[in-house]
Amino acid sequence: MERVGLAIIGCGSASPAVSLDNDGLSQVVETSDEWIATRTGIRRRCLADPGYSLAQLGAAAAAKALEMAGVAPEEVDLILLATSTPDDLFGTASVIQARLGATRAVSFDLTAACSGFVFGLVTAAQFIRTGVYRNVVLIGGDILSRWVDWSDRRTCVLFGDGAGAVVIQADPIDRLLGFELHSDGSQNACLNLAYQGESKVLTPDVTIAQGGYRPITMNGQEVYKFAVRKVPEVMEKTFFHAGLDAAEIDWVVMHQANQRILDAVADRLSIPREKVISNLAKYGNTSAASIPLALDEAVRDGRIQPGNKIAMSGFGAGLTWGAAVVQWGK
Ligand code: ACO
Repeated sequence: MERVGLAIIGCGSASPAVSLDNDGLSQVVETSDEWIATRTGIRRRCLADPGYSLAQLGAAAAAKALEMAGVAPEEVDLILLATSTPDDLFGTASVIQARLGATRAVSFDLTAACSGFVFGLVTAAQFIRTGVYRNVVLIGGDILSRWVDWSDRRTCVLFGDGAGAVVIQADPIDRLLGFELHSDGSQNACLNLAYQGESKVLTPDVTIAQGGYRPITMNGQEVYKFAVRKVPEVMEKTFFHAGLDAAEIDWVVMHQANQRILDAVADRLSIPREKVISNLAKYGNTSAASIPLALDEAVRDGRIQPGNKIAMSGFGAGLTWGAAVVQWGK
């Protein structure tokens, strides 16, 4: 098969209509706008009411990305949904495929928590570079509000819901300039949304487990230390693979976890903070959605221009982390 390159030619995003600000949240747990804003930069978050599905949010984001790309749903070969909060554990990507009318596309979910979008981008690139598929829709979407412990002020103030998407297309010129991905399962306990079953005896010889998932648990300080250590490292390695100097990067679009993390990473890489796209004040941490949500905002308001070099980095549960440098558009 002929090896080809790729270009990212469209983006879109979708958020639930309801937004809860920090003052509103202080009616739920003992907290304050001052505490949340100072420690995280977050001012409010969009939350999905029970009528929303992840498929609905993901399909809305994907439809906007396809429109910008000028690609018809029937031309899509592959739909990847990066999520940790599917509507259905058997997968939600297929429901998005049906909603879009992307009748030719194969679709599946991919789980790598807040690294999901970057891991999905690299996965999509493998299918395109090998010549297997031409048009890929990559969606990052999460409804974490379903799984947050709303009595735990250490975690519930951080998260929000949303979806973002990009259209990635085969092209003679390869605009994925470099990437690097990592996992460290030995630190898995730092951040969990874990299954918890209870034993159920089926027959005297056979016992199985049945149950559900526990709300998110997080060791905030460990996750913070992990992020500020590993993200600059993986970005530097990715710049090396891309043959670029940090000064040549036009924009940084990182997972929107915490403003302090974004600032610390920028400072360690000696990248001016103005080059780091941040919209977490409005959305909080939307997990796999956060990078494409921020990307879409910056493309639509004209900050990101065709040809700009964008460094992306995702990090989070697993633990997982990774980075990719892409050149926007054609
Ligand atoms: N409001 C008011 N007080 C609070 C709140 C709150 N929402 N949450 C905690 N506190 C209190 C604590 O009870 C504690 O008080 P105590 O000392 O009397 O016990 C005090 O504030 C300090 O708590 P810490 O947990 O030590 O606060 P810290 O300075 O570490 O900040 C934070 C917490 C913001 C979560 C920080 O650790 C952080 O940002 N970590 C990274 C987390 C992250 O980004 N996770 C997501 C990345 S991965 C992914 O996206 C899935």
